[in-house]
Amino acid sequence: MRIAYLECTRCGEHLPADRPQNVCPKDGGVLYVRYDLASLKGKLRPENLSGRVASMWRYAEVLPDATLVTLGEGFTPLLPSMCGGEALPRGHGAEPRHHTSRESANVFIKDEGLNPTGSFKARGMSAAVTMAKHYGLKKLAAPSAGNAGGALAAYAAAAGIEAHIFMPKDVPIANRMECDYYGAHVTLVDGLISDCARMVAERKDKEGWFDVSTLKEPFRVEGKKTMGYEVAEQMNWKLPQGIIYPTGGGVGMIGMWKAFDEMEELGWIGAERPKMITVQAAGCAPIVKAWEAGKSASEMWVGAQTFAAGLRVPKAYGDYLILDILKKSQGTAVAATDEEVLAAMRHWASVEGVFAAPEGAASLVAYQKLRASGFFRAEDRVVLFNTGTAYKYLDMIEAQEKKARPEVATARTIGGIIGPF
Ligand SMILES: Cc1ncc(COP(=O)(O)O)c(C=O)c1O
Ligand SMILES: [Zn+2]
Repeated sequence: MRIAYLECTRCGEHLPADRPQNVCPKDGGVLYVRYDLASLKGKLRPENLSGRVASMWRYAEVLPDATLVTLGEGFTPLLPSMCGGEALPRGHGAEPRHHTSRESANVFIKDEGLNPTGSFKARGMSAAVTMAKHYGLKKLAAPSAGNAGGALAAYAAAAGIEAHIFMPKDVPIANRMECDYYGAHVTLVDGLISDCARMVAERKDKEGWFDVSTLKEPFRVEGKKTMGYEVAEQMNWKLPQGIIYPTGGGVGMIGMWKAFDEMEELGWIGAERPKMITVQAAGCAPIVKAWEAGKSASEMWVGAQTFAAGLRVPKAYGDYLILDILKKSQGTAVAATDEEVLAAMRHWASVEGVFAAPEGAASLVAYQKLRASGFFRAEDRVVLFNTGTAYKYLDMIEAQEKKARPEVATARTIGGIIGPF
C-alpha cells in the first residue's frame, strides 16, 4: 500500500516517505511507517488472505508498495509443542518423553529458523532492501551481531546493491562465510555490535552508504511486524496470552506490537494483547536490568558475553520502546544463562525435533521460569519464538559443549570416532 507518512515515536513529527529516511532529525527518535488503515477497514478482511503467497508479503496492504526483493521469507510454521515446555533438564534419551497430542497443545514454537539465511532477520532485510532499491540506493551499511549481516548480504546480492557489514570478529563462522559468498564487504571488528555501529556512523557520509542499522531506518520493523500478523492468522485471529521473544535490538518485539495495533485498527482483532516477554542472556541483559529497576531506558551493559550471539547487544537503540511494550502488555523480562540455554537447545532438539538457535532456546528457559514462578499457568496459550536455526552456530555450540562438559563433549556430540582404517 502507499505509505501515508513516517512518524517519529518520540515527538510525533511526520516525515515524507518519498525519499530515504533514517531517524527523526529533531530528536533521533525511531520512525514508524504509517498507512491509511482507516480506508482499508472493512474492505480488507482476514478471509481475503486465503490463497495468497505463503510469505510475509501476503500482507501486502500493510507493507510498502514497491517491486519486491524477496527470497520467500516469512509464513513460517507455528508448531504446537509436543511437551508443553516441560521436563528440563533431561538426560540424553534416559527419561520418558512427555508428549502431548498436537491438538491439546497450548505452547507453540514459531520456527523462524526456516527463513532464508536461517533467521527472522530475513523479514526485516527483505523489506529494507526492497525500499532501498525503490529509492535507487546503491550502497547499504549495517553493524550486525551476525544474522542481520547475513540477511542484508543475501538481499543486497539479490537486489544488485552493495552491502558493507561490520561484525564482531568472533561471530559464528556461518555469518562470516555467508557474507563472503553473498559478495558483501565485511569488516571484522575486535569489539561488540555497539563498536560496529560507531564505525558505520563515522564512515557512512564519506563513503556514501545508507545506514540500515537496527531501528535507524523504518522498514526493518515493517518486515518483522509480519511475525505479529502471522501469529494472529495462524491462531485464527485470537492472540495468545503470552509471547516470549529473545531480545537484542528489540525489533521483533517492537514490530509485533505495531502489528497488533494495526490489526485492531483494521478490525481484525480486539483490544486484547499478549503479555510480551523479553528474554536475554544473563551475560548481556540490559533490558532485564532496566525492567527490574523500573527504568524507561537501559544502560550500556559492560563486559557482554554469551554464545547466543544475537543477544550480545549491550544497548538497544529502541530500549525505550521495548520497555514501554513490556509495561503496556503487563509482560516481563527474564535472563537465561548459557548453561540453561544449552540444556534447552538439547531438550527442544530431542523432544520437538527443532534444532533452535541459542537465542530461540532462551525462550524455552524463560517459559519454564515463568511457569515455575506462576506468571504463566499451564492453560495459558504462549508462543515461544525460535528466531533462528542452530545450523548457523555449530562452532559456537561445540565450544559451549566443551566448556560445559569437557570430559564428555566430544563423545556425546559425535558418538566417538572409530578408526583409522
Ligand atoms: C537468532 C537471533 N535471535 C534474536 C536476535 C535479536 O533480535 P533483535 O535485535 O530484533 O531483538 C538476533 C539478532 O541478531 C538473532 O540473530
Ligand atoms: Zn522526533
